[in-house]
Amino acid sequence: MELFSRRVLLVTGKGGVGKTTLTAALARLLAYSGKRVLVAEVASEVGEPSALAEALGAPGSSEQPIELERRIRAVRMTPSAGHRGFLHDTLRVRLLAEAAMRSHAIRRFLTAAPAFSEMGVLYRLLELLRQKRPDGSPEFEAIVVDTPATGHALAIAELPEVLLKIIPGGPIGSAVREGLSLMTDACHTGAIVVTLPETLPVTEAIELISGLKRRKVPLTALVVNRMPQDPFTEVERGHAERINAAEGPLFGARAMQRLERARAAYARLQAEVGLPVGIVPDLAATGPELTETIALTWRGLEARHEAANE
Ligand SMILES: Nc1ncnc2c1ncn2[C@@H]1O[C@H](COP(=O)(O)OP(=O)(O)O)[C@@H](O)[C@H]1O
Ligand SMILES: [Mg+2]
Repeated sequence: MELFSRRVLLVTGKGGVGKTTLTAALARLLAYSGKRVLVAEVASEVGEPSALAEALGAPGSSEQPIELERRIRAVRMTPSAGHRGFLHDTLRVRLLAEAAMRSHAIRRFLTAAPAFSEMGVLYRLLELLRQKRPDGSPEFEAIVVDTPATGHALAIAELPEVLLKIIPGGPIGSAVREGLSLMTDACHTGAIVVTLPETLPVTEAIELISGLKRRKVPLTALVVNRMPQDPFTEVERGHAERINAAEGPLFGARAMQRLERARAAYARLQAEVGLPVGIVPDLAATGPELTETIALTWRGLEARHEAANE
């Protein structure tokens, strides 16, 4: 599967569609396949609780990668950690970088323009990508990023190009250039767009996909999350429809309408983007149990896929 060849997967979509849940499930799937995985969430400066760690049943995450379970580490990417790394790489002397970060003038400069906050996050991502083990292999074979919201993901994707125009040379330029090639190289990076099977979210997903295309961010997967489950078997539906037609809506009429609307939204998405769309059902579980159920389902699909190709 394409998912397994990417170094960076950016999970994106509107708030509440299931990004955090699917990021966690994807990390599990990749870890099961033997990869050293880093799950990354984008956080502001303050120490908010980590939804991503929670989805994996762990107490929290921090600015430095910590091990949550076998082959899965988690990190919180803050703009300030990126700025610090950036200043350090630029100034080459950690003491100076620390002092510079304490300088109110520099801090204000780094946080004033919104792009600088995303620049910090992007730089932190680059730092994590560049980390090597003593044998020269990458410390993290796959980094799955839970991006906070649609606008943010686009802003990060847009950033390298914007900054290259402003700062063409020197260490900033080369870091930004590295970022640009990373963000636009289909071998390295892919976006995973998540949406719900409803009219408005599908419309927004279509807009997001064209936004990513314009910014040349490769789309790796498209997932419709929380697809309603069919309440009936074929035979039961036949009975229910007959009874409902004669007696008025009695049996599961609302559930069937919901399912039909969801299927229509799904069909529209598939027709508009011309790509295969993955489906994750609406499940009764929550938290770590939900994550594990999705990861195990994907693992089963993957195993069947492999068996079919042998
Ligand atoms: N496939 C699913 N089935 C049932 N509930 C889900 C599913 N995916 C996500 N949820 C629930 O939806 C809510 C939002 O999911 P979350 O991953 O936090 O979304 P986001 O990170 O995009 O805001 C959570 O309460 C989560 O448990
Ligand atoms: Mg989230």
